[in-house]
Amino acid sequence: MKLQADALHITRSGKKVLDGVSFSLKAGEIYALLGGNGAGKSTTLLSFLGFISPDAGSVRVNEKDVYSDIEAARKAIAYLPESASLYEHLNAYENIDYFLQLAGLSLSKSSIDEALDRVSLKSEAREQKLADYSKGMCQKVTIALAMLRDTDILLLDEPTSGLDPSAIDEFHQLVRSLADAGKAILMVTHDVYGACNVADKIGLLYNGKLMQEFNAQTEKINTETVHKAFSTTVATQNS
Ligand SMILES: Nc1ncnc2c1ncn2[C@@H]1O[C@H](COP(=O)(O)OP(=O)(O)O)[C@@H](O)[C@H]1O
Ligand SMILES: [Mg+2]
Repeated sequence: MKLQADALHITRSGKKVLDGVSFSLKAGEIYALLGGNGAGKSTTLLSFLGFISPDAGSVRVNEKDVYSDIEAARKAIAYLPESASLYEHLNAYENIDYFLQLAGLSLSKSSIDEALDRVSLKSEAREQKLADYSKGMCQKVTIALAMLRDTDILLLDEPTSGLDPSAIDEFHQLVRSLADAGKAILMVTHDVYGACNVADKIGLLYNGKLMQEFNAQTEKINTETVHKAFSTTVATQNS
């Protein structure tokens, strides 16, 4: 297994945020964690990076307990946070170069161009400051950056929020091709249809509990069924 949560319990500011969450994913799989606001999705991702330690249970990366070697876990993972923090006064190359350096990497302009080609960021935009970019263009830069880290594991926190439908489709195709190339991808989303389209497994998180899991490898995932299960839990949570 590339990622594994086992009976994970987490408390933040005195509140139980994750309540016995268990799931796992292998190389080549896309797992979509679906849930409403405050369900505990981002907390789950942060625990794999060793930022929030469990009260009970465990998180494993490459079969190894995250908290026994946090550095090893972080090295194995590229993480796309909920709100990407790129620099507006720098262009795409400069942003990527800067963040790769922070990760201890230095790559040629041609490898950066290759990644920017894969996310289809127009060549004429690459030397422009990000202040002039749309949300979708910024997202392409962060995805290219995550790809250039060339890790086995990607954690994506609401990667499609704010993207238009064609950018979402394009993004899902890219994610699929990364999984087909052997990466394990854990993706957090509100988007039921997107999750059903792209994911091999879907976990429904509600109030810190994994209520239900759908597995496209063993059953055909029916979008209506997932949507119904999702809206029932979210509706309950918000009432
Ligand atoms: N920085 C924080 N400090 C303390 N508690 C937090 C913090 N962020 C989130 N929480 C708590 O954790 C719960 C789950 O948050 P989060 O994992 O961000 O949910 P999601 O990503 O599903 O919207 C929230 O309802 C909130 O109570
Ligand atoms: Mg979140």
